[in-house]
Amino acid sequence: MRILFFGDVFGRPGREALAYIVPRWKEAHRPDCIIANGENMSHGAGISERSIEALLSAGIQIITGGNHSFEGKNASALLNDSSLPLVRPANMPSDAPGRGFAYFGIKNGKAVSCEDVEDAAILVINLIGQTHMRYHYPSPFREADLILEKTIASGAREMHPPIFVDWHADVSSEKVALGWYLDGRVSAVVGTHGHTPTADARILPNGTGLISDVGMVGPHYSVIGQEITANLERFVRQVPKKVDVAPAPPYEINAVLLDIDDTTKKTTTIRHLRSILEALS
Ligand SMILES: [Fe+2]
Ligand SMILES: [Fe+2]
Repeated sequence: MRILFFGDVFGRPGREALAYIVPRWKEAHRPDCIIANGENMSHGAGISERSIEALLSAGIQIITGGNHSFEGKNASALLNDSSLPLVRPANMPSDAPGRGFAYFGIKNGKAVSCEDVEDAAILVINLIGQTHMRYHYPSPFREADLILEKTIASGAREMHPPIFVDWHADVSSEKVALGWYLDGRVSAVVGTHGHTPTADARILPNGTGLISDVGMVGPHYSVIGQEITANLERFVRQVPKKVDVAPAPPYEINAVLLDIDDTTKKTTTIRHLRSILEALS
C-alpha cells in the first residue's frame, strides 16, 4: 500500500495548494490512500463543513487532527459525524467529541469508516503530545498500548491492515521516542504540529516508518502559516497580538510518501516531498 500524507493544512492557502497539487501527485505517485492533517484547515485553526468539503474535493480521503480540531462553529458535531472521514487525537478525555482512531475501507476513491477489520484498508490512529501543549493530555504512549490491545490483540499482524499514526506533538525528543516505542507495532509514525519539516525520515529496525515532522501545506512567506508582521510584534515587543493567516503565493507543500509491504505491514520506503510554488498554474 502506498500512502500519501500531507502535514497541517493551513487556512485558505493550504486548501488552495492542496486542490492544485493532489491531482498532480496522484498522477505522479499513484497512492492508494491520501491523508492530510486538517487541524488548521479553517482560518488557520479549526475545522468547518466548508473546509472538510474542500479537502475531500481536492482528493484527500482521511483527515486527521490535533490541538485545534475542536475549534470552529460546528466542530463537535462534525467530529461526531461518523460518516465523515475524521479523527482527532485519541489521548483525550473519553467524552471529548469525535474518535481517536478508526478503520477505513477505500471504495470508489473515497474512505469509508468500517467496523469490521476485514473490510478495512487501513487503521488510522491520531495521538497528541504532552510537552509544550496547552492542556495536560493523558499519556499518548499508554493510549497507543490500549488502542493496539483493542485492535490487533486477536489475530495475526499479517491479517491486520497497515496502521498509520499521525503523531501531533511539539518536541522532537518526545516525537522520536514514540517512534521507538511503537517500532514494529505500527506501520508508520508521522509527526505533525510543528509546521516546519524535519530531515529525519527513516525506517526503524523493526519496520516502522518515522518522521518527526512532515511540515505544513500553507503560505510560504509566513511564521508557520501566520502573517509575519503581527508575529514579529508579538515576539519582538512581546505585545499580545491577533494574528491572521499569511497571504499566498508563494505556497509551500510538505508531504510524505510511504510504501507499506502488503504482507508484513512494515514500511519499505519513506520519502519526504516538498514543493514551493510561486503560482498555482
Ligand atoms: Fe498545526
Ligand atoms: Fe497543532
